[in-house]
Amino acid sequence: MARTLDRVEMDKIVSLCKRRGFIFQSSEIYGGLASTYDYGPLGIELKRNIRDAWWRTFIQDRDDMVGIETAILMHPQVWVASGHAGTFTDPLVECKACHHRFRADHIDSKACPDCGGALTPPRNFNLMLKTFLGPVEDTASQAYLRPETAQGIFVNFQNVLTATRKRLPFGIGQIGKSFRNEITTGNFTFRTREFEQMEIEFFVKPGTDEEWHQHWTDLFMQWFLDLGVRPDRLRLRPHASEELSHYSKATSDIEYSFAWGWGELMGIANRTDFDLKAHTEHSGVRLDYFDDDIEDPAQKHYVPYVVEPALGVDRALLVFLFDAYDEEALESGDTRVVLHFHPSIAPIKVAVLPLSRNERLVPKAREVYDLVRSRFVTQYDDAQSIGRRYRRQDEIGTPLAVTVDFQTLDEDNAVTIRDRDTMQQVRVPISELLDTLAEWLNPRSS
Ligand code: GAP
Repeated sequence: MARTLDRVEMDKIVSLCKRRGFIFQSSEIYGGLASTYDYGPLGIELKRNIRDAWWRTFIQDRDDMVGIETAILMHPQVWVASGHAGTFTDPLVECKACHHRFRADHIDSKACPDCGGALTPPRNFNLMLKTFLGPVEDTASQAYLRPETAQGIFVNFQNVLTATRKRLPFGIGQIGKSFRNEITTGNFTFRTREFEQMEIEFFVKPGTDEEWHQHWTDLFMQWFLDLGVRPDRLRLRPHASEELSHYSKATSDIEYSFAWGWGELMGIANRTDFDLKAHTEHSGVRLDYFDDDIEDPAQKHYVPYVVEPALGVDRALLVFLFDAYDEEALESGDTRVVLHFHPSIAPIKVAVLPLSRNERLVPKAREVYDLVRSRFVTQYDDAQSIGRRYRRQDEIGTPLAVTVDFQTLDEDNAVTIRDRDTMQQVRVPISELLDTLAEWLNPRSS
């Protein structure tokens, strides 16, 4: 769908999100907690649809993938083995005059971007959030909130292998919260301290890792395109060697062109055998693979390499919002704000609208509503004029609106379906309504 508006500014997205119930500032009545957000009634539907689309495509539709859900709290040794305790740091600088803090690698100058004051030399700041387990706050009970979901997968490698009898190549995916004490947050939900990740660890035979890295990069790029993201807004950026995480041999980021420039949407890393080896060393439990297909007994046991596509749910949601947003000039002289969400992620699939609150129309419209919502996430709206109700549904990205009018009652027992993107309307007998909607929306979207 061609868009009218080239680029939407952040404040329009933030205001739409609050006004329509996608995203709210956390603890707002207390003045808010910096860079922490709550998802409202529409936001959570959108988020669930994104998770579901990911889970269906990458876990349920593949026989080389399984899912898992691991705890946020893990044994502190996990973070020593993974390298996070030692090296998961950002360089922090502080302005000596106004005491604002920045990531040294996020600013160009040697002076404070806010007041021009002198900055302290950078010091490494660990990003893991600490907590204490049990009643005594001593170091023995110190634990971390996980900074990535990945480690829960690595430490369960052997459990999953034994339970599922999977053969290489195969992967384990999970969706869950992660926490990082980011120095600089901002751009709404783009970088927050509490966020949700959808991560895959795909285990492969060493030597085939580069091919799989490319394969997963292509798969995810295509996934975003299939969900309607504009191709010219996406690009792939391989990391330079000095940028690579401590575990990575190669990483490609899929980036999105936001109003403020290109930003990371997700990373696809080749983590080699770093994590399984590190956990074997620190736990004393062998995390390797027995390969029946190899003849030579000396070669049968090896540690798989792993390719990791890692995506933030909140970040994906922000991209879908930015990408879907448009403002269109109508013939009437009005402007309509519309979210062109792909039907499979749209929070509400169908709106049922009686032409008016006329007492004859409402019972019929309610009947149609009950029918439609038995199959699709549906909203009923009879407040204000039909034109305003269409606008309201456009603004939240509802792909289809079904209108019940007097012709329905008096003539044809049919309704009008209006398409959000083209604003075209067709008349469909109620007996064919569900099938027509399903065809339109995509059979798996309900
Ligand atoms: N296990 C690898 C890993 O966590 P990462 O590049 O640090 O890699 C993966 O994170 C993805 O998680 C990012 O591309 C982004 O989508 C999301 N993400 C990371 N930090 C985030 C933050 N502070 N706020 C929101 N999303 C974040």
